[in-house]
Amino acid sequence: MANSKYEYVKSFEVEGEVMPPNLIVVHIDRRDFRRFSEVHEFEKPDDEKALNLMNQCAMAVLEEYPDIVFSYGYGDEYSFVLKKTSKFYQRRSSKISSVIVSFFTSVYVTKWKEFFPLKELRYPPSFLSQIVCCASLEILQAYLAWRQRDCHVQNQYNTCFWELVKKGGKTEMEAQEILKYAKEQDRNELLHQQFGINYNGTLALFRQGTCIFKTEVEDIVKYNEDGTPVKRLRRKAGIFRSENIAGRRFWNAHASLLKELGNFSEDCFKTNPDYIRSFLFESKLMPSTWIVIRIDGCHFHRFADVHEFNKPNDKQALGLMNLCAEAVLEEFHDIVFCYGVSDEYSFVLKKDSQLYQRRASKIVSAIVSFFSSMYVMKWKDVFRKKELKYPPSFDGRAVCYPSNEILQDYLAWRQVDCHINNQYNTCFWSLVKSGKSKSEAQNYLKGTQAREKNELLLKEFGINYNTLPLMFRQGSSIFRVKRENPTLLENDASSVEKTETKIVTEHCNIIEQSFWEAHPSILD
Ligand code: GTP
Ligand code: MG
Repeated sequence: MANSKYEYVKSFEVEGEVMPPNLIVVHIDRRDFRRFSEVHEFEKPDDEKALNLMNQCAMAVLEEYPDIVFSYGYGDEYSFVLKKTSKFYQRRSSKISSVIVSFFTSVYVTKWKEFFPLKELRYPPSFLSQIVCCASLEILQAYLAWRQRDCHVQNQYNTCFWELVKKGGKTEMEAQEILKYAKEQDRNELLHQQFGINYNGTLALFRQGTCIFKTEVEDIVKYNEDGTPVKRLRRKAGIFRSENIAGRRFWNAHASLLKELGNFSEDCFKTNPDYIRSFLFESKLMPSTWIVIRIDGCHFHRFADVHEFNKPNDKQALGLMNLCAEAVLEEFHDIVFCYGVSDEYSFVLKKDSQLYQRRASKIVSAIVSFFSSMYVMKWKDVFRKKELKYPPSFDGRAVCYPSNEILQDYLAWRQVDCHINNQYNTCFWSLVKSGKSKSEAQNYLKGTQAREKNELLLKEFGINYNTLPLMFRQGSSIFRVKRENPTLLENDASSVEKTETKIVTEHCNIIEQSFWEAHPSILD
């Protein structure tokens, strides 16, 4: 297909890869766990159902991505470890971390009702993700020891805290004060003496967290005529727990971990948090540049087929994408403009945004996860009679553009792409619907110019391309507009703001300068 003069903007996209032999770990944790758990009335200090839901999501992630060979999670976080020889997405960090957090979130929303049949999901949950690079297996071991230590310390503290508040009659401030200087041993004694609780006898799910990884299991596939079973080895994800997941005894006992990651030669007793923090490096996006987060549906070709989307454009599917993007704009105040076409959306953050201190992985994951969550939540509102057959996922990337001109060229590039693809696809599907095979249609269109395609549509199929819905031809632009506050006009109350901000979705030409001149506040 033709290239536009805007293609040069692609050169601003940089792909960070994790070079071998570094081990890739994807760490995800919930964006606003405190608020989410309060709104949804999770039990304190631990909610067994909420933890089991997290574990089910991790299980689904392992089933979906064969390169993930180990995972560990507790509370509101999970870490996924890829096999050392992984070539998943050419080891591109943004792709890997965004796809995994997106899929995890989609599964979380999909499975919510299974775990909380009587609780409505009040707002879309979202998770942050980042890649942790482990230069050696020993560093992975130290990382796991650190996470499990955190699980224990947090759980022990929270158990004491909520016992003091719920049964000890203390206020939250008083409980905090009591625990301020209490050491590990003191906390165990407090639980034992005041509340008769043997900490080590409490649920391992809370104290130790959960490991999920695949092992080979024997499956009976059928029975011979004489009744003897025919067995086959199959890799199946399962749940494992241990007091010390970074210990040799646990790790080296599992053949799959030895094969895909290697064996622990020493035990790891103590970790130095400063040492671990040194490899939790997160790159920051260049200051004073426009940040664009572009997300794109993963394998939406298949997703559209399975869900029988209209070809080449499905009004409802595009409408759902727009609903999600509007919600993203509402949630993240630093976003000033969104542009969407097909299964992709670009979100423009203002130049001086300090969202997550401009950490790329945090911004990308927050947006892609929130969008995925919304997509699953809103599905049934849009497709009333169509069931969501499997959880969708989106990948995301962050790109910086240094000037207004280049940012506008970026958006023009996406809109030209929308036009070129839509014109081609409209011809292609018209030819196919008229009886041509897909390869015949492809050959027919090879080398044709825009004018010829328009003529084909008009002469052969009676379609005037320029009268097709604007949303198909120009994509969707979402932004805020200021308008006079109608409440003020009615009651003239001086305390009411004179103007109010409204989110609008338009299908218009954003390549021409006139759009930006008509809306100077967007890039102001
Ligand atoms: P990756 O993004 O590389 O994972 O592959 P993909 O299959 O998602 O392809 P890509 O993003 O390049 O293109 C988007 C695809 O989504 C299109 O080729 C269509 O197959 C499908 N798609 C998006 N919107 C619609 C729609 O409204 N109707 C139909 N029928 N298909 C759509
Ligand atoms: Mg796609």
